[in-house]
Amino acid sequence: MRLTEEERAMLAGTEGPAVQKAMQIIVALAEIYEAVELVPVASAQIAGVSYKNLGDAGLEFLEEWAALGARACVPAFMNPAGMDLERWREMGIAPTFARQQQRVVETLGSMGVALTCTCTPYLVGYVPQAGEHLAWSESSAVSFANSVLAARSNREGGPSALAAAITGRTAAYGLHLSENRGPTHVIEVRCPVRSEADFGALGYLVGLQVADGVPYFRFRGEGSLDRVPNQERLMALGAAMAASGAVALYHMERVTPEARRGVALGTVLRVDDAALPTIDVSDLSEGYAALNSPLDEIDFVSLGCPHSTLADIDRVATLLDGRRVRATLWITTSRQVRSLAEQRRLVERIEAAGGKVFADTCLVVAPMEEMGFKAMATNSAKAAFYSPTHSGLERRFGTTEQCVEAAITGRWTGSSDHLGA
Ligand code: F3S
Repeated sequence: MRLTEEERAMLAGTEGPAVQKAMQIIVALAEIYEAVELVPVASAQIAGVSYKNLGDAGLEFLEEWAALGARACVPAFMNPAGMDLERWREMGIAPTFARQQQRVVETLGSMGVALTCTCTPYLVGYVPQAGEHLAWSESSAVSFANSVLAARSNREGGPSALAAAITGRTAAYGLHLSENRGPTHVIEVRCPVRSEADFGALGYLVGLQVADGVPYFRFRGEGSLDRVPNQERLMALGAAMAASGAVALYHMERVTPEARRGVALGTVLRVDDAALPTIDVSDLSEGYAALNSPLDEIDFVSLGCPHSTLADIDRVATLLDGRRVRATLWITTSRQVRSLAEQRRLVERIEAAGGKVFADTCLVVAPMEEMGFKAMATNSAKAAFYSPTHSGLERRFGTTEQCVEAAITGRWTGSSDHLGA
């Protein structure tokens, strides 16, 4: 493997033990993945922020690295934590958990990692340029950066993303290389895909079938796109595929940048190659069926996975106007988007109806299993996919409108069939 003079010096410890340790991690990964060189990264997104996932061993690992003098040398920012850093008591978080969670974010903050606590850094000012190399780690963020923004990132682990932040480098393998960014499967969508939930169900089904591949979506016949999918729909699609199939990059005909300008952006597109397997999707009901438990009563509704956009919050505020929720309703988002929603009085309207708009966290990384909820409704295929294993919750999965209705009535009345969405 080729290392520059500067990289060799980092590995030899010339820049101190914290940088040396980071470079050892990067070089070990480069060797495992047979990278021939490292590439400079424009930014790093650090997962493994929730104390629920890190535990004491993870916290000590971070504190030891920080004590060695570790410091990010490129823009670096945090994934969601296990709680709203200000309103954790309202979430029902135990003080012992809150103390340890605070230590995690303070430790990362002391290393120069920005306190974004979001999986949508691209909504709060960290928007990568096409072709930039990144070391991002949250799977939906990686999918969005690769697919919608045409930046280049593998799905890093928390420690390797932090090592990349400290050295400014990552190993050049996988999706950093043009030859690995072409499609592996063509997906012919032949049914209507009308809502974010439909895009989530589609992503869930495709992820299962292409596992770790690069799908190229074409919409045909009944599935023709009447308009370019908005960012919320693309986020839902990517998050679901990342959950069910570890898909970190997809293309969409006439929509995503590498599908439109692949050659100009360096991606090798071979869509018309007869050798590419083609998958027809003509019905989403199997996806809805797999992500719905047979529940009637709902005690918890979660919206905001990936973290809600301002448009998402606006929609919920409108649906709730003049009404009152019976179930617990959480909308999770970044602190910056929450603050914009506050300025527009959207948070006030939602909270007047009994809902909560929490920042910094989400239901998958918060310690939900300690809060006594049993049955959740969500508009996120990713949240529905993970909730039984990560949050101890059975779930209903449907549109935002169905979920808000469930929050108001405490019952799931919507059809789980996308045609009724
Ligand atoms: Fe984001 Fe949490 Fe969902 S990190 S994508 S809101 S699981």
